Amino acid sequence: MKITLRLIFALVLTITAVSGLFSYFTVQSEKVRLTGELEHRAWLVAEGLKESIGALIPKGKSRRLDNILERIATSKQVIGVAVYGLGGEAIAVTKELSKVLPVKPKILFEKIEGDGGIGAYEVVAEKQAYLFAVPTFDDEDSRTGTVVVFSDASYIDEYLFDIWRRNFLRTLVNVFLISIITLVVVRWSIVGPIAHMAEWIKHMSRGKVDETFKVPADELFSPISKEVSSLAKSLAVARARAEEEAQLRQHAEAIWTAERLKGHVRAKLGERKLIVVSNREPFMHIRQGRQVQCISPASGLVTALDPILKACGGVWVAHGSGNADRETVDKNNMVRVPPDNPLYDLKRVWLTQEEEEGYYYGFSNEGLWPLCHIAHTRPVFRASDWARYQEVNFKFAKALEDTIDDDTHIFVQDYHFALLPRVIRDKHPKAKLAVFWHIPWPNPEAFGICPWRREILHGMLGADILGFHTQFHCNNFLETVDRNLECRINWERFSITRSGHTTYVKPFPISVDFTPPPYDMAVKGKEELFKENGVKGTLLGLGVDRLDYTKGILERFRAVERFLEKNPEYRGLFTFVQIGAPSREHIKRYHDFIGEVSAEADRINWKFQSGNWRPIVFLRRHFSHAEIEPYYRFADLCMVTSLHDGMNLVAKEFIVSQADSNGALILSTFTGASRELRDSLLINPYDIEQAADAIKAALEMSPEEKEIRMKRMRAVVRENNIFKWAADIITELTQIRHE
Ligand code: G6P
Repeated sequence: MKITLRLIFALVLTITAVSGLFSYFTVQSEKVRLTGELEHRAWLVAEGLKESIGALIPKGKSRRLDNILERIATSKQVIGVAVYGLGGEAIAVTKELSKVLPVKPKILFEKIEGDGGIGAYEVVAEKQAYLFAVPTFDDEDSRTGTVVVFSDASYIDEYLFDIWRRNFLRTLVNVFLISIITLVVVRWSIVGPIAHMAEWIKHMSRGKVDETFKVPADELFSPISKEVSSLAKSLAVARARAEEEAQLRQHAEAIWTAERLKGHVRAKLGERKLIVVSNREPFMHIRQGRQVQCISPASGLVTALDPILKACGGVWVAHGSGNADRETVDKNNMVRVPPDNPLYDLKRVWLTQEEEEGYYYGFSNEGLWPLCHIAHTRPVFRASDWARYQEVNFKFAKALEDTIDDDTHIFVQDYHFALLPRVIRDKHPKAKLAVFWHIPWPNPEAFGICPWRREILHGMLGADILGFHTQFHCNNFLETVDRNLECRINWERFSITRSGHTTYVKPFPISVDFTPPPYDMAVKGKEELFKENGVKGTLLGLGVDRLDYTKGILERFRAVERFLEKNPEYRGLFTFVQIGAPSREHIKRYHDFIGEVSAEADRINWKFQSGNWRPIVFLRRHFSHAEIEPYYRFADLCMVTSLHDGMNLVAKEFIVSQADSNGALILSTFTGASRELRDSLLINPYDIEQAADAIKAALEMSPEEKEIRMKRMRAVVRENNIFKWAADIITELTQIRHE
């Protein structure tokens, strides 16, 4: 209020001073103008008289003089005329004037230069009058006396007073209106939003960073609100971590946390940075119209590695694939990420369209991906793709050159870089190099169809540590090497020695961050999720995947169909929401697959839908983590039905979000996750009957049973979280000694 008053006071003062000044100047100029007019009229009268009476004055009072005066002095506003002799005695006075004539007006004592006149204001009979005096002369030009014309000037004061009065009233109205407007504007645009902002900050400081309690939209606050939201998010994460630490201390458990990993990495690496290399970048800048948006792509690899880099810092080198990526990097192609709270460096490597086509779409995703996933899609091997694949592996090695030396710890990700470890090893024999293969490794027979299998294996063996999700994949790899390369394999230590260099092959089951996300999801309930999708449902089934043929989405839909056929009582109650992020659409198999998924959803919906209910909601778009979170939290069941999957982090993310333990997980036995999450409902996704029965079992499971299972799975994921995964690999890597 104080500031409002001060503002109003300052405005009022300014307005009053300015309008007072203007009024003063108006009055002054009006006075000059009106005086001029009066003077001109009086001058006309006096001039008219001067000639005719100049010679009469020395003769004293006369009737003729009186008559001349009366005749001329009839002009409007002229009170009258008086003629004075040289001694100042009145010789003739018009009748009206004679009643009020002052004895000797002061103007008679003023000196008159030449034959011009002078004027002055005087009070005559208590009224303001303007007196104009002109000298008279006889025929010999000798001064004979003075003619004084008395004009009524009282109206000038009235007129000037009127100007003051009107200006005063105008100022008053202005002051009133401006005060009201100021009050309203201050209230609406400053006080209101500040109060809202304060409320919002209070809300967030309690750890409730949610999307529904909106930041004040006002431009004035956007820089502050941006800073405060990122501060609040960090606070919420810190708080969650502190709570987690406190809980752990209480339970005296040695669980890995972001903080613990940070300390561990610092102890192991000292000042040296951790370098991570992957094809997919953790943050993509995308141009949408005039705006540049930063998104986190749908990738299990990104889900897993981003929390590690956030905890430990370092450099992540990846393909810059966003269409606005180039606009956001510095001259070294680096950008600090995450954008709202930068914690590590992202170095982008640019690929030509031809390189992307051959290396990413071609060899990686039409060759190696189906080769490693046994999902009945035939791998395609083209010599031109293989050439691009080699080139890009060299290109990444070159991009790493100014970031690494012999002592660097490099962590290479996935099947896009099978050759990179060897290229780095040849240049930096002492570098410490780990590779993690995020997808399955097939049996030697399946891998044997790859025309460049020996080159790939040789490339991978440039690493010191080679990680897979499961022991089974490690065994497959060792057998594949055994069949294809000249080398020494130690089956007890799980190591391969080739040309004097040893690679250790180990399982490291990847995981997720168990820290609860910094969103308050209590706001968006199941009902709202159904409503948003225009369905009337009660029980929510969920699937979250990239639209990939390995994920068993069609089999999942068929299981939903079979479930509704066998259990008609669930029609109108159970709806399955499939969140599907488009992926690798440039590849025909993926492009066709999206069509197949849509068609299958339509077919099943057509078969069962009634009124506002339908069995399948297919949401084909990229969802942020915050958007997926409420689905995870309120789903009655989540289906992960991959036909083959290295680990599958959706299963683990679902478990992390199930703090209330109300949901059930249906999980394919062909995922790496099925080795750890034994309390899920394990199914063979090809067995539609079994999957349909699992849906029924999940929906009809008692809340107690659900809780027991979910709590046990939560304990597994909490203990085997992503920080433990990173700590295990980094520990192994730092223990490597090159002779
Ligand atoms: C799998 C791979 C990752 C990849 C992700 C998304 O999880 O192991 O390396 O990033 O799929 O695929 P994309 O081709 O979009 O990167």
